Amino acid sequence: MKQICVVGVGYVGLITAAGFADLGNRVIALDISKEKIEGLKNGEMPIYEPGLEELVERNVKSGRLTFTTSYKEGLDEGTEFVFIAVGTPSGVDGEADLQYVEAAASDVARNMSGELVIINKSTVPVGTGDWVAGIVRRNQPEATPFSVVSCPEFLREGSAIFDFMNPHRTVLGSLDRDAADKVAQLHLPLRAPIVITDLRTAEMIKYASNAFLATKISFINEIANICEALGADVTEVATGMGYDERIGHHFLNAGLGYGGSCFPKDVLALAHMAEEKGKHPQLLHAVMDINADRRPMAVERVIQMLGGDVKGKTIGMLGLAFKPNTDDMRDAPSIDIATQLIAAGATVRGYDPVSMEVAAPLLPDVEMYTDPYSMAAGCDALMVNTEWNEFKQLNRRQLRESMKQPVIFDGRNIYDPDEMKELNFIYRGLGRGYNGANTAEK
Ligand code: UGA
Repeated sequence: MKQICVVGVGYVGLITAAGFADLGNRVIALDISKEKIEGLKNGEMPIYEPGLEELVERNVKSGRLTFTTSYKEGLDEGTEFVFIAVGTPSGVDGEADLQYVEAAASDVARNMSGELVIINKSTVPVGTGDWVAGIVRRNQPEATPFSVVSCPEFLREGSAIFDFMNPHRTVLGSLDRDAADKVAQLHLPLRAPIVITDLRTAEMIKYASNAFLATKISFINEIANICEALGADVTEVATGMGYDERIGHHFLNAGLGYGGSCFPKDVLALAHMAEEKGKHPQLLHAVMDINADRRPMAVERVIQMLGGDVKGKTIGMLGLAFKPNTDDMRDAPSIDIATQLIAAGATVRGYDPVSMEVAAPLLPDVEMYTDPYSMAAGCDALMVNTEWNEFKQLNRRQLRESMKQPVIFDGRNIYDPDEMKELNFIYRGLGRGYNGANTAEK
């Protein structure tokens, strides 16, 4: 059993803290937000993540997981490891804003009571590990030995606990091999391959991984556009491609493109880092451009499906969160789509199984409904923005009967076009030229 302090109880921090506690360590989760820490002490989660509440509760009960706002308490003499897992939002030019990392590193330096391994979990620009080491050195009241290790996270929202417990790999970067080995020991129970490298390379592995996944998404979205023009079905193209092990089935779902707090920010930050060094990251720019085009394209589609004008029409959005199993609205396509439809004169309604509370203040002009059927009643069109399982199981006959016009634009390709035709819907997915049935591309 090791004693660990985790700084930041946001997405990554809280899952890391609860995860390491569950592996048998004593973990002190620290945040400067009194509100979040008080909430956690009362069993309130600051984020929605399936299974998180139970995981936190179990480890709090066993005494392995505690919460504090005090660095003194978090870094008492028993603490050997401190994870920095604070936010790194996008700055004005797309560079990562490191103010929270800087504040956390200097607070750690001022309060450390003995030798410490400082582990960077936040996604930070290549070179930040060295910078953090400098901050710690400058802020220590007296020289105390420490090492910095980069350990990027690869958690997906919605399945973050599964991903923590079943990682594909653990990446560790440090100039101090002993420190990296100590952090490797912490991860041994997870039985994943461990890659130990230098600091900058570890930081780069994180950016390159997210940029590659974003590239796969933009690639299949470009193929979707071509499929539509040529009369092919992108969902089947992706299945056919995916059996080639060099390609794989993952991240080939064409749709409204990527959103969330990671891909948009990380691809932009990587391009920014490249440009700062005089490089021209053409592929990254194409990935971002293709992604940005998806939202206005979806809006145009719906307008087209409603005869070229949505003034006075009512459109219901099935799904508001950027992806299923989360209430996260950061860079969610639904925000841009709603704004553009409203600007075009439509009345927009919204329903999401979990993100309503988070979404409502961000979408003040969208009429919110607490169930999909009452939202659909009287609508001229429905749009699928998020592929929640709940939407796959909707009684579509009932939906159609209550709608003013039976129009569905499926931005995530969750329905079968032939079935939708049988149900007498005017239906369109994305990249499904051939199977577009009664709405096939001309
Ligand atoms: C992503 C990565 O998958 C994680 O490995 C990484 O740790 C995390 O970013 C991070 O850097 O913190 P996440 O943003 O939670 O995780 O979500 P993903 O499941 O990767 O989806 C990202 C976006 O891509 C979503 O908007 C999703 O709808 C979209 N997507 C995904 C597609 O449009 N098509 C696909 O085939 C897959």
